[in-house]
Amino acid sequence: MARQKFICGNWKMHKTVAEATALVKELADGLAGDARVQVAVAPTFTALAAVGAAVRGTPLELAAQDVHWEVQGAFTGEVSAPMLADVGVRHGIVGHSERRQLFGETDETVRRKVGALLAAGIRPIVCVGELLAEREAGRTLEVVSRQVRGGLAGLSPDVLMAVTVAYEPVWAIGTGKTATTAQAQEVHASIRALLRELGGAPAADAVRIQYGGSVKPENAAELLSQPDVDGALVGGASLKAKDFLAIVKGALR
Ligand code: 13P
Repeated sequence: MARQKFICGNWKMHKTVAEATALVKELADGLAGDARVQVAVAPTFTALAAVGAAVRGTPLELAAQDVHWEVQGAFTGEVSAPMLADVGVRHGIVGHSERRQLFGETDETVRRKVGALLAAGIRPIVCVGELLAEREAGRTLEVVSRQVRGGLAGLSPDVLMAVTVAYEPVWAIGTGKTATTAQAQEVHASIRALLRELGGAPAADAVRIQYGGSVKPENAAELLSQPDVDGALVGGASLKAKDFLAIVKGALR
């Protein structure tokens, strides 16, 4: 069975509650609700509850940008998976390169966050990707494979199926430089092969692998036409309804 394409907008640290709900309204008005594509948006924590209410009854789903691995406790500034589920979050991004580079995220914290999300009934979107220096040193597949193994360690095949992997080459994020379709497909195929090793063929066939890094209306359709590119994690271009809707349309071609 063909995998349903999955497009998620990662709004990063952008938009007030009013701006976020206005964007959701525009997106909901423009979305056809085609079953071939699943669409989610990940606002900041402060806008999650309002966006959660705004997406109800629309084809849009709610995602969070991060989570803490504990359920509750003395962890000032953190938000737990049950708290995210409480406001309607269905997907949780973990291991984003900005969190790895700026906030000390490691493969081990990613693994714990994946477990916490799954325990709360939230589907993880696990981000992996190499730095420019790592690509230039020919280490892309080694780095990505270490991140996938580390983040997904210990998951049974039926649980693994609920996970989405987002391949985001760090040098392509927010730079306007996109991986070529051949570069993306090569890494996606190697991630799929690794998933087969970790969880068997049914799990590897079920897991969606998104591409992220300067996805725009102009390049989305071509990237998404690759056999192992099952969606996109979109940063900058997800902040404008027109661009994000055009990217979703690219997934339908
Ligand atoms: P850009 O689309 O702005 O390059 O960001 C990609 C990204 O980091 C999505 O998580």
